[in-house]
Amino acid sequence: MKRTILDTDPGVDDALAILLALGSPELHVVGISAVSGNVELARCVRNALRVLRLTGRMDLPVHAGASRPLIREPFRAEIVHGRDGLGDAGVSDAGRGADSEDAVGFLVRTLRADPGAISLVATGPLTNLALAERQSPGVLKQAREVIVMGGAVREQGNATPTGEFNFVADPHAAREVLHAGANLTLVPLDVTHRCLLAEEAVRRRIAPLRTPVSDFIARTTALCRAYMKNVEGVEGFHLHDPLAVGVGIDPSFCETEVMRLDVETEGGLTAGQVVADRRVFVDERLLNGSNVRVCVGVDRKRFVEFFLERVLK
Ligand code: BDR
Ligand code: CA
Repeated sequence: MKRTILDTDPGVDDALAILLALGSPELHVVGISAVSGNVELARCVRNALRVLRLTGRMDLPVHAGASRPLIREPFRAEIVHGRDGLGDAGVSDAGRGADSEDAVGFLVRTLRADPGAISLVATGPLTNLALAERQSPGVLKQAREVIVMGGAVREQGNATPTGEFNFVADPHAAREVLHAGANLTLVPLDVTHRCLLAEEAVRRRIAPLRTPVSDFIARTTALCRAYMKNVEGVEGFHLHDPLAVGVGIDPSFCETEVMRLDVETEGGLTAGQVVADRRVFVDERLLNGSNVRVCVGVDRKRFVEFFLERVLK
């Protein structure tokens, strides 16, 4: 069992990622740290707690972290996730607040306490991780692994023409985390865009079950599915954040390649863009960026089926 921290900005697909993690015996979730992202921090905290209530895991700590990006103004995705972040579906509240320890303190304390033991899966902007690294340099290297959903390498962006939401929301944090020397695996749009929770699966396999979890999935994803259909012409909803958890459970879901990566932080059009330096005609020492393991291929059918089995069981 991998002891795991989920750093997250729930967010509908973050909520599905939490469900997958909690439903998987390979992972032992030791805590959740919330970060401002899809919606404002207080709503992300509230939503993490709502998922814990749904799953009967109110014993787990939830720590509130950064309420804004390192430098840029907050950038939200309410149009996809709803004003409340969970599809405005009226999900019941947990009736409790966050733990008193803040997320950055929690990350530093937990990673330092047991070097090489903790897996960290980050599915929101990387502000909490960057702040932890600033507070305690080298702390991300203490993680057994850091799995990050973020960035678009060869794929086009979703938040900007070249940028993925989590990296666009806090490009400075993304840059600092990529350069922190951690054992990092990037799960970019290149692979998450291939993993669709299809309309048909919701209609035929999820909704008819009428369990609290299946109702939660059907209701909270309704707004995103409508958005995907009307705006992107896609019949379903991308399992971005669940795939990052999936890689934590079974790395063989994705094929990986080590690349030299950096993140653009300043460009008016391109802040948050991942820049991969794949030049072969220059001396390796002249390449930009840090070595990062990047997911470049995914066994999509196997992963989507695995996701459904785990969250619906
Ligand atoms: C990422 O952006 C957010 O809206 C999702 O929760 C996911 O983490 C996908 O680009
Ligand atoms: Ca997210």
